[in-house]
Amino acid sequence: MTYANPLSPLLLALAGLYASENRPGGTVAAQALIAAALQPAALVPARPGPLDDELQAILAGDPHPVSALVRDATPWLPWVFSELSGRIRPDIAHGMMQTELVGPDGIFPHDQVRVGLWLQSANLDYVTRAHAAEETFFILGGGAIWQAGNAAPAWQGIGALIHHPSLTPHSDCTRESPLLAAWRWTGDIAVEGYTLTG
Ligand SMILES: [Fe+2]
Repeated sequence: MTYANPLSPLLLALAGLYASENRPGGTVAAQALIAAALQPAALVPARPGPLDDELQAILAGDPHPVSALVRDATPWLPWVFSELSGRIRPDIAHGMMQTELVGPDGIFPHDQVRVGLWLQSANLDYVTRAHAAEETFFILGGGAIWQAGNAAPAWQGIGALIHHPSLTPHSDCTRESPLLAAWRWTGDIAVEGYTLTG
């Protein structure tokens, strides 16, 4: 099969995951991902991300099958620390990196949805935060203890879909392995709507 661009296989796989959410936001994300997958593009090669060693450790393990498509896409993924324009303090932000595939800051521009990949280092407490955007994570490798709203903390591992309605406070803490996940934001996707409160 001939694809429109080098990220098409990954984008289509993520579209399938978000379509399976059965939520309006998941459908919006899936439609944006499919549109990006069908868009011819000659992408710019990217340098390895700032936490590439941890990414390679996850990919060398036994991650979700979609992670093989992440590995294939890696030469074109521009990873950056998850700083959110200074809204995440450096001791946490420099333990996480993300790449936005679709969205206002994405490889494929979109003004109503953000979809990307995110890595959190091992043994990192990403403290409580909340944001206006509605969010769903899909864990591709590793796992973390998650807590959201009034729910009890619980381990979430490979294959877990984790949904946060708009403005739901949430936190997560990795243990001995790093975490790799896909994420989507829909609704009010401005980074100005994000606050770190923990
Ligand atoms: Fe979040």
